Amino acid sequence: MISSNRWAQWLATNDTNRFVLSRKQGWHEFVHSARRDPLERLSRDELDELGEEEREDYDEARRVWNANLPTVKTQQLTDAYDVIDQVMASGRRDGDRLRGSVVIDAAPGLGKTTIATRYGRDLHRREVRRHGPRTRVGHQRLPVAFIPLSSEITLKGLNVKLLEFFGHAAAERATSPRLASMAVDCVVSCETRLIIIDELHFVDFRHRRGIEVSNHLKSLANEMPATFVYVGVGLQERRFFDEGLIGDGAALAQTARRATRCPVTPYTNDSPAAARAWTDLLAALEQHVVLADAGPGMLTDLASELFRRTQGHIGSLTTLIERACDQAIRTGAETITDTLVASVSIDNAATARANAK
Ligand SMILES: Nc1ncnc2c1ncn2[C@@H]1O[C@H](COP(=O)(O)OP(=O)(O)OP(=O)(O)O)[C@@H](O)[C@H]1O
Ligand SMILES: [Mg+2]
Repeated sequence: MISSNRWAQWLATNDTNRFVLSRKQGWHEFVHSARRDPLERLSRDELDELGEEEREDYDEARRVWNANLPTVKTQQLTDAYDVIDQVMASGRRDGDRLRGSVVIDAAPGLGKTTIATRYGRDLHRREVRRHGPRTRVGHQRLPVAFIPLSSEITLKGLNVKLLEFFGHAAAERATSPRLASMAVDCVVSCETRLIIIDELHFVDFRHRRGIEVSNHLKSLANEMPATFVYVGVGLQERRFFDEGLIGDGAALAQTARRATRCPVTPYTNDSPAAARAWTDLLAALEQHVVLADAGPGMLTDLASELFRRTQGHIGSLTTLIERACDQAIRTGAETITDTLVASVSIDNAATARANAK
């Protein structure tokens, strides 16, 4: 029998992994989805009154909730929006004039994908509100395409991924040049204005294959009347911006000329203002945590320890909070304390650096 208490119902409509962003259907759902329904915070007494199954479902619902705290409008996010806005402004140039591109380049787990997808979502909603869900000739309007790359991506693979986003049936069969022209057709007919290429670090720009992909990105950017946002880890070190150092580097040089780099920085604690930004982030996150004894100060009081553990990396921080919440539920602590934080392990990089201090 399917359980029907309200927590089970919450779980049914607020499940994890709700969206596959690399397909237009999934992207569309992500863009138009409401936020997760708020999850009620029960007191200890109310927890004690729950039946066994209800408690099990409520705890599971809390785990899903605490693992997906709402996006905070951080300074990093606002700064990146500014850069993309500026570059998008030249996206108003007519189709036959070249647009710039944005490169969101930073270490892992700093919120690059979050920035790009949230920006894409806002733009998508605005365009559809302004111009309607259909283009002038009646195609579905898809203002934004989201293309995450995979390891060892080839030129053909890139085209296939583009077509798969648009749901083009012939994606697997055609030859590369044909695929590219089909992808251009999709972008033109769906009036796509922004194309986000995520995980660009999977392209090795020092090798032939990578240079091919880079050349191809350049020619797509020439042919498609859209602004490109490239997202990846250590792109500068990977020579994404190099100016003709190896072989026929002209294509890379051209990419570099047109690209505006948008770094995303970790939090620091080297000034009172920086420390305040960190505390503000913790304050924003702690008010969403659903634990019976959660309250103001729960995370902000632990600001320096949380900083030491995560080195100000937002991705490590949300993982730490998620795991600490899980422990708090399992042990009945129902709040996050320094002992609890000490008992939680997080990613290797953060742990290694925290121990080195
Ligand atoms: N503005 C934000 N508000 C709240 N949480 C955030 C925010 N930005 C990032 N996060 C958290 O950090 C995690 C990592 O973010 P994201 O995946 O965007 O980083 P990334 O830089 O793309 O990482 P990777 O290099 O692994 O691709 C997210 O799952 C989310 O939990
Ligand atoms: Mg990412």
